[in-house]
Amino acid sequence: MLKLNQVSAQYNMLNGYVKAVDRVDFEVRKNEIFGIAGESGCGKSTLLKVMYDLINYPLEIASGSVEVHTSDRKGVPVIYRNGEIHKSWWKDISYVPQGAMHVMNPVTRVKNQFFDTISKYHGVKNKKLLEHEITAYLKELELPPEVLKAYPHQLSGGMRQRVLIALATFLHPSIVLADEPTTALDVVVQRGILTMLSQVQKKLMNSMVIVSHDMGVHYQITNRMGIMYAGQMIEIGPTERIFNEPKHPYTKMLIHALPRIGDNSQKEGIPGTPPSLKNPPAGCRFAARCPHVMEACRVVEPERVNVGEGHYASCHLLN
Ligand SMILES: Nc1ncnc2c1ncn2[C@@H]1O[C@H](COP(=O)(O)OP(=O)(O)OP(=O)(O)O)[C@@H](O)[C@H]1O
Ligand SMILES: [Mg+2]
Repeated sequence: MLKLNQVSAQYNMLNGYVKAVDRVDFEVRKNEIFGIAGESGCGKSTLLKVMYDLINYPLEIASGSVEVHTSDRKGVPVIYRNGEIHKSWWKDISYVPQGAMHVMNPVTRVKNQFFDTISKYHGVKNKKLLEHEITAYLKELELPPEVLKAYPHQLSGGMRQRVLIALATFLHPSIVLADEPTTALDVVVQRGILTMLSQVQKKLMNSMVIVSHDMGVHYQITNRMGIMYAGQMIEIGPTERIFNEPKHPYTKMLIHALPRIGDNSQKEGIPGTPPSLKNPPAGCRFAARCPHVMEACRVVEPERVNVGEGHYASCHLLN
């Protein structure tokens, strides 16, 4: 559905480039929830912008390509490449940005946010009919129709996030990108949002990409996932395998940091900080924090190794 071919993206700053996404290569398949994990600043949101082709200064694509594979009304396959993906926004691919629930237009009722968005991209011929369809869709998603009359501040954070997910999925896009959809919500509300996302995915049988720094979120709802470190995707595979047999020391540390019922051991963070993306080090970017670091790690960049069953990791320990 969505294919990234060795994509690199950077922020063009006055004093140099911030290389936020480095040669990322993977695909999102039909009918799956794909997760992207990694600590703050590793390039998750930038990668999602690249996938949605939301490229505004200072962000630029340095190399590689993105492809959205979809079909037209007659079922004929269509491929949109970066530079033209905007033609398929909302209809084929939609995006819920990080923190979107905090930046909904405060002086516009929810109903008009739906109208504005849909009319901007696809025109609205019959407002009454559209309102009827929106109400019916909200009902399907178990949202009260009264939210349409509300202003964003009158809704709870969780409800605003649900409304945004409803808006993003209203036109039944085949790909939905959601950036940190549960961050800043309490755990009970989080669970509700995750349930909603997975129900919508099952209903539409489409593909979803969920970005979250919370490994628990990935464990709960993703089918496959990628782990990012310092702009690179260092491990990718079926979520179950990532959790049961993580291969990269960084992934192991992320999983080890998760609390488990019955385990009272002290959880420690990962020592050290990620390298600068302005001037990333040679070799493996995790070398400075890795407990297994070898001489080669500081010099030679590890290649992606196939460890079976669609599971790949980039680490010298695997060779
Ligand atoms: N508009 C911008 N201009 C310049 N640099 C940016 C911009 N947005 C992000 N960056 C830099 O790009 C890198 C990747 O940022 P990004 O927001 O993609 O990370 P993230 O993984 O989504 O982090 P978080 O978990 O905090 O949301 C960081 O070094 C960040 O400082
Ligand atoms: Mg982010």
